[in-house]
Amino acid sequence: MNILVTGGCGYTGSILVNALLEDNHKVTVIDTMWFGNYLKKNKKLKIIKLDIRDYEKIPLKNVSTVFHLANIANDPSVELNPTLSWEVNVLATQKLIEKCIDFNVKQFIYASSGSVYGFKKEKKVTENLSLLPISVYNKTKMIAERVLMSYANKIKIHLIRPATVCGYSPRMRFDVSVNMLTLQALTKKKITVFGGSQIRPNINILDLINVYKHFLKNKKLKSGAYNAGFENLSIINLAKKIQKIIPCKIIIKKNNNDKRSYRQNSDKLLSTSFKKHFSVEDAIIDIKDRYYNKNLQILPSAFTVSWMKKQKIK
Ligand SMILES: NC(=O)c1ccc[n+]([C@@H]2O[C@H](COP(=O)([O-])OP(=O)(O)OC[C@H]3O[C@@H](n4cnc5c(N)ncnc54)[C@H](O)[C@@H]3O)[C@@H](O)[C@H]2O)c1
Repeated sequence: MNILVTGGCGYTGSILVNALLEDNHKVTVIDTMWFGNYLKKNKKLKIIKLDIRDYEKIPLKNVSTVFHLANIANDPSVELNPTLSWEVNVLATQKLIEKCIDFNVKQFIYASSGSVYGFKKEKKVTENLSLLPISVYNKTKMIAERVLMSYANKIKIHLIRPATVCGYSPRMRFDVSVNMLTLQALTKKKITVFGGSQIRPNINILDLINVYKHFLKNKKLKSGAYNAGFENLSIINLAKKIQKIIPCKIIIKKNNNDKRSYRQNSDKLLSTSFKKHFSVEDAIIDIKDRYYNKNLQILPSAFTVSWMKKQKIK
């Protein structure tokens, strides 16, 4: 199958692209390579350094599925330049879906985010609940979802709402909670937690890749939003989980700027016969083993916001 992946050089994209190649698909990646490119050469892989805002140049001839991952991908990096994020996350997304329809692409899989729920007290946050996006990032995701769904009569649209992703990738991110706290435990022997009672759902990166592959295989699944998050943990319980694997101190600070707190329920996804295989604990152990085996590079680009600031990305 011919597949196009935007953001294919990113944290999740790098693992997704390798998984698609292993399954013998032909893959084209569109990426600005803001954080580098860790994909290895492969006959079936074409990598194009391109900004999705130059959507006219995106090659879609004979492409059957598009995975759309290229976005400014977290709250603080969006705050650096909100206009850039509206342009990339929403406007370019709309141009891209229109172009996909013109080129008769059959399926569009969008990496939305569980953070569209913002703040929710419900025990079971399912896809039919109203969205309460708090940050500009959350808002761009919600609006992009709505724009995309307005084309659902013309193309199959699967909106995946991943929880916070954890685990190793060649383009590593240490700004996502599990990875960040695990790194603190490894390098400083202490974890600092702000607040701590806020609940966040998590997903192991390997499960998320399987979710994407699941939708690729099951194109007939109804268009719409699907939660993809399995372990709802308070930040303090996450810190304790890490402490059991990597002995360290936990320091709790009262001030917490990030008020997001929600659980995610993924029964809708599970009802489509998706099976979860990996856990947060697996991700922590893998990062720890790589660290002690000297198989984990701690690059400045793994800290998204400070890296974007340094690169003066516009
Ligand atoms: N990592 C998470 O915890 C998480 C959770 C929920 C949703 N998501 C979503 O999943 C997607 C991928 O996230 P990630 O963690 O891999 O982030 P990432 O920042 O590692 O990857 C994004 C990639 O997109 C590229 N990119 C950004 N803007 C671009 C543009 N205008 N044109 C072309 N390429 C561009 C970047 O260079 C990068 O390689 C994002 O849409 C993100 O919002 C991520």
